[in-house]
Amino acid sequence: QWGLHTKWLGKEIVHHDRISSTQTTAIEYAQEGCDHGTVIVANRQSNGRGRLSRQWYSDNDQGIWLSVVLRPDISPMKAPQLTLVTATVLAEVIEQISQTTPAIKWPNDLLLNNRKLAGILTEMQAEQDKIHYLVIGIGINVNQSYQEMDLSVREIATSLQIETGKTFHQTTFIQLLLECLERRYQQYLDEGFHLIKASWEQYAYKMNKEVTYQTGKAKQKGFIRGIAEDGALLMETESGRIDSLYSAEIDWFSS
Ligand code: BTN
Repeated sequence: QWGLHTKWLGKEIVHHDRISSTQTTAIEYAQEGCDHGTVIVANRQSNGRGRLSRQWYSDNDQGIWLSVVLRPDISPMKAPQLTLVTATVLAEVIEQISQTTPAIKWPNDLLLNNRKLAGILTEMQAEQDKIHYLVIGIGINVNQSYQEMDLSVREIATSLQIETGKTFHQTTFIQLLLECLERRYQQYLDEGFHLIKASWEQYAYKMNKEVTYQTGKAKQKGFIRGIAEDGALLMETESGRIDSLYSAEIDWFSS
């Protein structure tokens, strides 16, 4: 059905018409010991989850909603790199399919024309130096019309259909996504993070632009200069110092 040219990613694909959340289901599978590379896909989700306990509107069959179970033999500290691998892959695949170039807003939102097109949610179970599982959830707004977008996100989110006027074949999209993810993941394990970092930075939203951000109480301005090996956002402050941001309130949309 999926016609995948992969070695291990998506060898098992569990497909649902409508479930609560592919992410929650994938975590259950992972806890029950499913294989590395298992993928859960749903046409629609009644309770899609976003980062920071937000909701992810996905109770329609016009988007791609899937979660991947990985069991990488790397230190849990490096797990954020795999989210960056995934964001890079999403940008590359979206670009290839739609001929539009999305931007990656750190850490892992994909934007088109300043609106959110796709998001990634990574959840992990680890202990000391071992990752038991990592579940990477991917949500992409693909064929929704403007009217089909949830009212509460209409002004801040978008879909490929809204931006290009075209509709896209979802199975092809998923195939390409999983093939590219397996290739980039392998490359990351074999050669390290530097190739991913370079590609991520090519897509980085506001790269070399000035933004206002807040860490703790202090508000300051800085230029975005890229990402570090550990996934931190590198910010050059007005005094020329490079700050590594792990979590910060960044005012992305005013200059
Ligand atoms: C975000 O930007 O906050 C992350 C959104 C992640 C959404 C995807 S859709 C498939 C998977 N299942 C979920 O419930 N969430 C993720």
